[in-house]
Amino acid sequence: MTDHPAGTAPTDVADRAAAGFRREYAGEPAGRWAAPGRANLIGEHTDYNDGFVLPFALSLRTVAAAAPQPGQTWTVWSELSGETVTFGADEVAAPGRVKGWAAYVAGVVWALRDAGHTVGGARLAIASDVPLGSGLSSSAALEAAVLAALVDLGGLDLPTDRQPRLAQRAENVYVGAPTGIMDQSAVIRCREGHALFLDCRDESVEQIPFDLAAAGLAVLVVDSRAPHRHADGEYAARRRSCERAAAQLGVSALRDVQVADLDGALARLDDPETRRRVRHVVTEDQRVLDTVALLRAGRVREIGPLLTASHASMRDDFEITVPEIDTAVDAALAAGALGARMTGGGFGGCVLALVDADRADAVADAVTAAYAERGFAAPGHVTVLPSPGATRLP
Ligand code: GLA
Repeated sequence: MTDHPAGTAPTDVADRAAAGFRREYAGEPAGRWAAPGRANLIGEHTDYNDGFVLPFALSLRTVAAAAPQPGQTWTVWSELSGETVTFGADEVAAPGRVKGWAAYVAGVVWALRDAGHTVGGARLAIASDVPLGSGLSSSAALEAAVLAALVDLGGLDLPTDRQPRLAQRAENVYVGAPTGIMDQSAVIRCREGHALFLDCRDESVEQIPFDLAAAGLAVLVVDSRAPHRHADGEYAARRRSCERAAAQLGVSALRDVQVADLDGALARLDDPETRRRVRHVVTEDQRVLDTVALLRAGRVREIGPLLTASHASMRDDFEITVPEIDTAVDAALAAGALGARMTGGGFGGCVLALVDADRADAVADAVTAAYAERGFAAPGHVTVLPSPGATRLP
């Protein structure tokens, strides 16, 4: 999905981060820490309803090359912006003081300090292959790479299973985006060859084998390239509407409504829009459980219809898809995909399609052709494999 111009600059993302570090700071990094983007196999807008999600990490990664620097000063260079931003103790004393991309870095420092950790100053150089604004969690990848670097550099006592909440606080409180716990959990806790079955209420996880190659399958990720249409405001509105519905139903979160009780719950809500939102969340939780059951039984091919049903629910009930996304899903299915759905928060972003490995190109071509017919800007595409979560590179 990312094209690197041919030339002398390193193409590997870890090498680019290290080269950027040497150039900016005239020294060697103490190490390099990588965190992936993620795709969500199924379970959308369920995380902030205390429900279930099933994401997997991508091989596209963000890398932070880093070294300590004296005092309470953090300096960050980003390949993407070409800028270097420096901030100190004042800027991380309260949320919101650093703006733009560097807010995600400052947010991590703030969240660590807020949790009582002593964070030493650092120099960081960031490079990334995770496309921005495509719904593949580039922001969680940035947070997790920086967090891994600061935890290791400072020898901080912060076990992996507690890192997602801290990174989420950076995003929720420092940056001010009201997202759930899925993305940070995925990019930190995912394992190669597995999808992460996460219970967002207690953050317990199960690594679910997701061996696409053994099943002769591939996951094709299509970047819709749809312009973001009020995604932030719409996300917050969906979240509010779910929380209101839970209050009306007298449950602490929509996770507590079972599919078997759905009709009764819907009958107690008078607003038709709220009823649609609730129906999405409750049925989506069940689809995650059904998908997990099939994967545990090794029946990977059979999850396709659940993916497609998830898409229909996001389109018709949660109303978070856009024409480009629906076009990509319909074209993928017509070209033989076993299932297809939008992945991520919605209003643009990516579609994932489960395909026979030898059909991946044909499905991608069909989506491109459907886009051309509708006059949409050409989509991007890449096949992905479940990859490891955040890690220090050797
Ligand atoms: C975004 C948020 C996640 C989650 C998804 C929708 O990716 O960051 O917390 O809510 O949307 O499933």
